[in-house]
Amino acid sequence: VVIIGGIILLAYLIGSIPTAVWVGKSYYGIDVRQHGSGNAGATNTFRVLGKKPGSIVMAVDIFKGWAATSLAHLLVLWNVIEPDQLIMFKLILGVVAVLGHIFPVYVGFKGGKGVATLMGMVLAVHLQVALLCLGIFIVVLLLTKYVSLSSMLAAIAFPLLLLLPMFKPDTPLLLIFGIFIAIMVVLTHKKNITRLLQGVESKANINPFNSK
Ligand code: G3P
Repeated sequence: VVIIGGIILLAYLIGSIPTAVWVGKSYYGIDVRQHGSGNAGATNTFRVLGKKPGSIVMAVDIFKGWAATSLAHLLVLWNVIEPDQLIMFKLILGVVAVLGHIFPVYVGFKGGKGVATLMGMVLAVHLQVALLCLGIFIVVLLLTKYVSLSSMLAAIAFPLLLLLPMFKPDTPLLLIFGIFIAIMVVLTHKKNITRLLQGVESKANINPFNSK
């Protein structure tokens, strides 16, 4: 129990790493939460600070989700859990990391929306469906230029794709979790939904000739 508790705490602390806030403050003297959408995530870092810091934040935030989720393998390796419990613990650790990202202990519990961290988590949980969701994200982004809409549609696609016979998971837990994350992502995007409906949501600058 102590080991499992410690690993869950570690997953939270990894997810909590406020990459956007730290990169912004350390290298630019800017708290991205006071600019743009006010979100401490990769999208807002791209928007406020540019491509390089945005890419770094995106990579680190995806890695956080993947790393925290993968800690479950250690529990199997140390014989703390049975191999058939791996998926359940991956889901628990991944969700804890995403919650850490949304409510980070290091910066007053005001973090991001959890999309990149969630991406890292689903990559570690169901690679094929994760890549399809990434594809959906990219297509919607190219078509609409709304990162928020792309994030929500990709998150909603996750449980729907799991219903297809070829992606049917071994355990219903994954589907339950998929529905949970889709709801979570929609909830963290409440302000974006209002802006989208009002037609005032900011569009991503995905012009490859802009080198900012
Ligand atoms: O990753 C979060 C994204 O979906 C929306 O971010 O800054 O446009 O609210 P933002």
